[in-house]
Amino acid sequence: MAALMATLIVCLTLTISIAMVTAASSTVQFVFGDSLTDVGNNNFLQYSLAKSNYPWYGVDYINRQPTGRFTNGRTIGDIISAKLGIPSPPPYLSLSMNDDAILQGINFASGGAGILNETGVYFVQKLSFDDQITCLEKTKAAITLKIGEKAAEKLCNEAVYFIGLGSNDYVNNFMQPFLVDAQLYTHNEFLELLTLTLNGQLRRLYGLGARKVVFHGLGPLGCIPSQRVKSGTGECLEEANQYALEFNSRVKKLLVALNAKLPGAQMALADSYDIVLDLINNPERYGFKISKTSCCNVDTTVGGLCLPNSRLCSNRSEYVFWDAYHPTDAANAVIAGLLFADPDIRQAPSPVSELAPAPSPL
Ligand SMILES: *[C@@H]1O[C@H](CO)[C@@H](O)[C@H](O)[C@H]1NC(C)=O
Ligand SMILES: *[C@@H]1O[C@H](CO)[C@@H](O)[C@H](O)[C@H]1NC(C)=O
Repeated sequence: MAALMATLIVCLTLTISIAMVTAASSTVQFVFGDSLTDVGNNNFLQYSLAKSNYPWYGVDYINRQPTGRFTNGRTIGDIISAKLGIPSPPPYLSLSMNDDAILQGINFASGGAGILNETGVYFVQKLSFDDQITCLEKTKAAITLKIGEKAAEKLCNEAVYFIGLGSNDYVNNFMQPFLVDAQLYTHNEFLELLTLTLNGQLRRLYGLGARKVVFHGLGPLGCIPSQRVKSGTGECLEEANQYALEFNSRVKKLLVALNAKLPGAQMALADSYDIVLDLINNPERYGFKISKTSCCNVDTTVGGLCLPNSRLCSNRSEYVFWDAYHPTDAANAVIAGLLFADPDIRQAPSPVSELAPAPSPL
């Protein structure tokens, strides 16, 4: 009984919330992730097929220009940065290691990336999570040259590390029957492989000085437009949603265990599953009208990204999804606000004051 109580108390005290991680923390952010957080790294990868630096991506971003963000406007990360009062960190591949900007935070996210190296193989080129951590390692060496070892260690200890990965490990790996991992593993085995790999990656980040880590869990993957079309009836794929729930629960356990083992670690799960599911099931509750199909009239048989000749919906604020995978700027604002339990975040400064009328296809 005493042992059980002790375990309970340990678990309670080790469940770190994202508010705790980000409260009174340094303004330096290091962002790791996939297309949900990429702010332009893939623009620099010549052979990558996971690109969005063409219309109509960015149609609601600054100057209505595509930037490599996989949405019409801001990512959830952009909105969280605005909320914390700091600029959204620039893409790693846009920076020179001589640049003082590397002291202000960096975004390493790359469309198509996963926790596993083999995820997203058909995008040809991307920075996997391992690659992104290697980029941080190079950055830390450059920071050390600039400000010395002690100050570099302090900077890395105080920075906040946002990680959003796992969607591609499912959508562009395990859930593709023609790929090896789908044939090789049961879901339990795959989950074991994902968490074991993530454990090593988070320990590597810790070794580089990371203490304040926010891991953004998976949303209801079975309800994104690219998966709905597979059900034949347009309903959500329940099996995919179940995978996401199990993944989130396993990652939460992993973070609790790491907080217990690694001195000073404050690793939290930002779990947006219920938020996003409610947004999809009850769009009108949040000021949206349509959540089953995307604003951009994409062809899910050829990738599901928005193309220059795609037709756009007439009001982008009425749609939860921008393309077959990614939420709209308006949905990202709601999700970020709810994640931080802060309704005001929806009013976070937007780069454009109002949405322009739907442009005609190029
Ligand atoms: C994944 O790739 C990285 C290099 O990008 C390598 O260091 C690592 O060992 C690989 N992991 C596995 C499991 O193959
Ligand atoms: C677009 O939709 C949003 C959200 O439903 C609404 O507030 C806004 O008035 C609409 N804009 C136009 C031009 O209809």
